[in-house]
Amino acid sequence: MSFGPLESALKRALEAPKNIPVSSLAGMLCCDDAGFWEEVRSASYSLKLKHIGPAVSFRGLVECSNVCAKDCYYCGIRKSNKNVCRYSLPESEIIESALLAKELGYGSVALQSGEIESEANTAKFEVVLKALSQYLGVTLSLGEQTEKVFQRWRDAGAKRYLLRIETSDRELYSRIHPNSCDFLRRQNCLRILRDLDYQVGTGVMIGLPGQTFDMLARDIAFFGETDVDMIGMGPYIPHPDTPLKGAWDSEKAYKLGLKMIALTRLYLHDVNIAATTALQALSPRGREEGLLYGANVMMPNITPLKYRENYKLYADKPQTDENSAESREALSEAIISIGERINYHSEGNSPHYLARHS
Ligand code: 5AD
Repeated sequence: MSFGPLESALKRALEAPKNIPVSSLAGMLCCDDAGFWEEVRSASYSLKLKHIGPAVSFRGLVECSNVCAKDCYYCGIRKSNKNVCRYSLPESEIIESALLAKELGYGSVALQSGEIESEANTAKFEVVLKALSQYLGVTLSLGEQTEKVFQRWRDAGAKRYLLRIETSDRELYSRIHPNSCDFLRRQNCLRILRDLDYQVGTGVMIGLPGQTFDMLARDIAFFGETDVDMIGMGPYIPHPDTPLKGAWDSEKAYKLGLKMIALTRLYLHDVNIAATTALQALSPRGREEGLLYGANVMMPNITPLKYRENYKLYADKPQTDENSAESREALSEAIISIGERINYHSEGNSPHYLARHS
């Protein structure tokens, strides 16, 4: 098989962002040749070195609540899953966990929860943000909200917001969400966040039932059109208590997850890309491999252990206490072993965002 056209597309992709047609992205995703993929990986890694250096930024992830108003067909904490014991960390515990992260050298935290829209929830995160934002970079991942709420959190000190679009394909989106979930509202939230000068992150699940290589290639183009600063995406992993569960190939999902990281780096060049927990769920060194495919952010889970088992978005989600001295050392060694270093005490801002503001 000849990879001529794909190889020249790869060369051109290195010259400038968005310099690769969607059809070539799809063609690359389709290709399973190990030699060609080693070239793609290495090209993507070279771009990561150019824009970021051999360094990984940590975000301490606090899973603040599993209460969710949504009923997404793929997600373990969907509203109608009665097997989940619901919890919400009080303000004090969120603040305590984040400050512990700071003591451990993390420059930033990500606060994530199920999607809740209420005055109580808005006010709660205002309190948390006011307590933390002078010490740490804070990323919120709290779902769709009104412009007013996004503004209040921005005023309280939030700098970044992560809202995955999950898939940019409208038809697939409607197949994996109930009717009440509105693609256009989600997309509009991304625009509002951008207008409010957040560093904006989005992402998709990779390997969803019915998702094609073309759809994934168009997801990458969507990231570019939305002009996001950060990408958090990972393989889809079925959860037994959800309607979407079914036949699924874990190795295929894992490989596709790595390929999407490499192609997103090749397409966007200077954004932050996370090596997500879903990769680690499929392979113990999945996150480190993600770094070698072009990612530059890791989100060690620092949620207090007693809540962990109730934040299972998918089956076999890792439960490690990433605050323990043992796992911190193991992670640090794994990162050093691949020739990278940890950006301690740094907020690890997206170079793409900084370039917009220079
Ligand atoms: N597999 C992989 N990722 C999932 N998420 C939710 N359910 C699953 C699943 N079954 C992801 C979604 C969401 C993020 C918090 O977790 O992309 O945005």
